[in-house]
Amino acid sequence: MKKRIFSGAQPTGNLHIGNYLGALKNWVALQNEYESFFCIVNLHAVTVAQEPKVLRQKTLDLARIYLASGIDPQISTVYVQSDVSEHSELAWILNCVARIGELERMTQFKDKSRVRGENVSAGLLVYPTLMASDILLYKTDLVPVGHDQKQHLEITRDLATRFNRDYGETFKIPDAFISPTGAKILSLADAAKKMSKSDENLNGSIFLLDDADIIQKKIKRAVTDSGTNIKFDESRPAINNLLTIYQLLTGKTAEECEANFAGKGYGNLKSELAETVVEFLRPFQERVKQIDDGELEKILKTGAEKARSIARETLKTVYERMGIVGAR
Ligand code: TYM
Repeated sequence: MKKRIFSGAQPTGNLHIGNYLGALKNWVALQNEYESFFCIVNLHAVTVAQEPKVLRQKTLDLARIYLASGIDPQISTVYVQSDVSEHSELAWILNCVARIGELERMTQFKDKSRVRGENVSAGLLVYPTLMASDILLYKTDLVPVGHDQKQHLEITRDLATRFNRDYGETFKIPDAFISPTGAKILSLADAAKKMSKSDENLNGSIFLLDDADIIQKKIKRAVTDSGTNIKFDESRPAINNLLTIYQLLTGKTAEECEANFAGKGYGNLKSELAETVVEFLRPFQERVKQIDDGELEKILKTGAEKARSIARETLKTVYERMGIVGAR
């Protein structure tokens, strides 16, 4: 039997090249080898206020982006989180397993609550238990994510282990799959920060739906480091970042990339990179446009049915183990 992977992205903001290189690209590469579940996590999105009309639209747009990236709905299960209510049901159970202290210590929660002050929903605190539910419902082996999700994977493992200890072996303990290159693409405007959907500075991110001239401008303006040679070097994060994006999109080895830019300047790196990104995104954006609404609806419906049938079994076992019974 094939091992399983599960992953997802929030339908908030616009997906950027960091999301693609750190997550979606790996999903596509792994889908033939694993039984795959790719979810659009709209319930995570509402942990911060969303405009209903926009959220509805972004949910479907994200499904299109999954498909245009190369997720094949014939072999992978693509669905929307809210269509499978077991995610919320298991999240409640895991809220009762998690400890407030461990949730408060999560760096993403600390960062977001620092910015928002009093205006922090309880949902933001329990965000990781919903994410753990997503993963654990499917007895997932591997979770391909970017570096920023590492801590969420650790708490998922802790919650599963605690549940298994208290109620008997129920959940599979999942592993994170974090690629050695591309798991943390940095902002083009500030190499001390990761590229982020919620960054107010739009120049820091290359969005997957950006026009060619916007991409050219953003890359041209990208910050660089002191020095002149173009080599992979973690101590020069801005150049390292541009080279990493170049490497992942061209499929060249690190040596080939360095050889390609030997004796050339930052201007050459930027113009070649801009051309590479534009050439990559052109057919991608074409595919996004071509996805038929009716076809998309069918894919999401079939995906939700398949996901639900598995999620229901896991939740049933959880309820049985915990003595949760009723009339049904
Ligand atoms: P989200 O929507 O923020 O991001 C989607 C994926 O993109 C990765 N990513 C990056 N990778 C490289 N460089 C970057 N700058 C960068 N920014 C984001 C993220 O690590 C992620 O893999 N909590 C998740 C969604 C989620 C989920 C799950 C993921 C909910 N349930 C279950 C896996 C399994 C999130 O907010 O991703």
